[in-house]
Amino acid sequence: MHTLEQKLQEKSAKIGIVGLGYVGLPLAVEFAGKGFYTLGIDLDREKVEKINSGRNYIDDVDSNRVEALVKDGTLEATTMYGRTGELDIIYICVPTPFTPNKEPDISYIEDATMHISEHLRKEQLIILKSTTFPETTEKVVQPILESTGLKVGQDFYLAFSPERIDPGRTDYTTHNTPIIVGGVTEKCTRLACQTNEQIITKVVPVSSPRTAEMSKLLENIFRSVNIALLNELAQLCDRMGNMDIWEVVEAAATKPFGFMPFYPGPGIGGHCILVDPYYLSWKAKEYDFHSDFIELAARTNENMPFYVLDLIIRSLSSSGVALKAAKLLFLGASFKKNVDDIRNSPALKIMQLLLHRGAENLLYNDPFVPKAKVNGCHLESQEVTDKLLGSVDAVIITTAHDQYDMDRIVKKAKLIIDTRNATKGILEGASKIVRLGSYK
Ligand SMILES: NC(=O)c1ccc[n+]([C@@H]2O[C@H](COP(=O)([O-])OP(=O)(O)OC[C@H]3O[C@@H](n4cnc5c(N)ncnc54)[C@H](O)[C@@H]3O)[C@@H](O)[C@H]2O)c1
Repeated sequence: MHTLEQKLQEKSAKIGIVGLGYVGLPLAVEFAGKGFYTLGIDLDREKVEKINSGRNYIDDVDSNRVEALVKDGTLEATTMYGRTGELDIIYICVPTPFTPNKEPDISYIEDATMHISEHLRKEQLIILKSTTFPETTEKVVQPILESTGLKVGQDFYLAFSPERIDPGRTDYTTHNTPIIVGGVTEKCTRLACQTNEQIITKVVPVSSPRTAEMSKLLENIFRSVNIALLNELAQLCDRMGNMDIWEVVEAAATKPFGFMPFYPGPGIGGHCILVDPYYLSWKAKEYDFHSDFIELAARTNENMPFYVLDLIIRSLSSSGVALKAAKLLFLGASFKKNVDDIRNSPALKIMQLLLHRGAENLLYNDPFVPKAKVNGCHLESQEVTDKLLGSVDAVIITTAHDQYDMDRIVKKAKLIIDTRNATKGILEGASKIVRLGSYK
């Protein structure tokens, strides 16, 4: 029988990717693109059917590539775990959300691991990629896999290797973004490194899965804390009424060392920076440790949609428009520019808050999000015509997609509430712009 090392060298190792979402599908396409037979496993029947008919559904993935890989039989998908025994290496890329009370929900990891354990065999390597709190790999995944009687490091191998993909980004993708690997044993680390090296230019081993888990959280909490600082300063600039936070950051960023610019905004969304701090603060409590710093940052960021709500009401009232009567157009529904991801989107949160406060006429446009649901209401993306811009009481820029023609928007709209500094440098009509963290 060939060892896993030999199979990797011969490129005959079969790859499994559990969870074909923003992380899993690009990974599957990279492996299949290098000639490795790759089987994607996802409970979502629609995604599986799309892949098997050669259709891509993730913006960052090349649709022609998916079509070609499926056609030549290198890439396949299934909703069933029954074939995991055939696979040599299995990545777990399932969601790790939080509960309504902001506690980690690792049930997707547990569920995927249980299914994998049913067909676990000798010489298989399992790599967890889902972001999670330290010790998940060793204290949650490992015991489930070892309940089969097989022993980690000896019969099968296990590692944590966090994902760093930044959807919408083209300079750093799966292929050229360095990846960290922490295996349960030295051999686990070595095999997981060799596996990642098949598709990634730089692989960085660390001493344990928990170090890799913590380092992934550090990366995202670093962003959460710095964005929170800017969100706090934006509110201070607004309160002082004689400064513009965007100009302040730009000035500070001219320092060539010791400073890295971060920007304020209407809130943090998505599946990572908003969620991950709660994973660590929850884990910390197990050790009687309260991560005040992390929680303060999360609280500050989560307060931003409420602050924007206040900014909208204040700006409308300065224009003599009552919220109930106001017709409002939101530009951008996704949580960041040039992507279709609406998970925890601040734009949707602000619309929700406005509806609670009595707003009755909300419209939105998002070239990436044709439909959205807010407080049970189904909304459809509107075309941004000159007529529409002129007919609304305010345009609220929540996501600065590149497609937006800001000069035209500012020229035609009566009032613009810009939460992203998307109208930077526009002079004609500048008096109509209210910018987050700036004086009017
Ligand atoms: N999206 C990002 O930019 C990003 C970046 C870095 C890390 N991560 C992390 O990667 C993980 C996955 O995130 P994502 O954005 O790809 O999520 P996603 O929701 O886009 O994809 C997850 C997929 O897993 C499937 N799934 C759920 N439970 C399953 C199960 N038991 N078996 C098989 N399939 C199952 C879902 O149907 C879905 O297609 C999360 O932990 C996330 O925090 C995401």
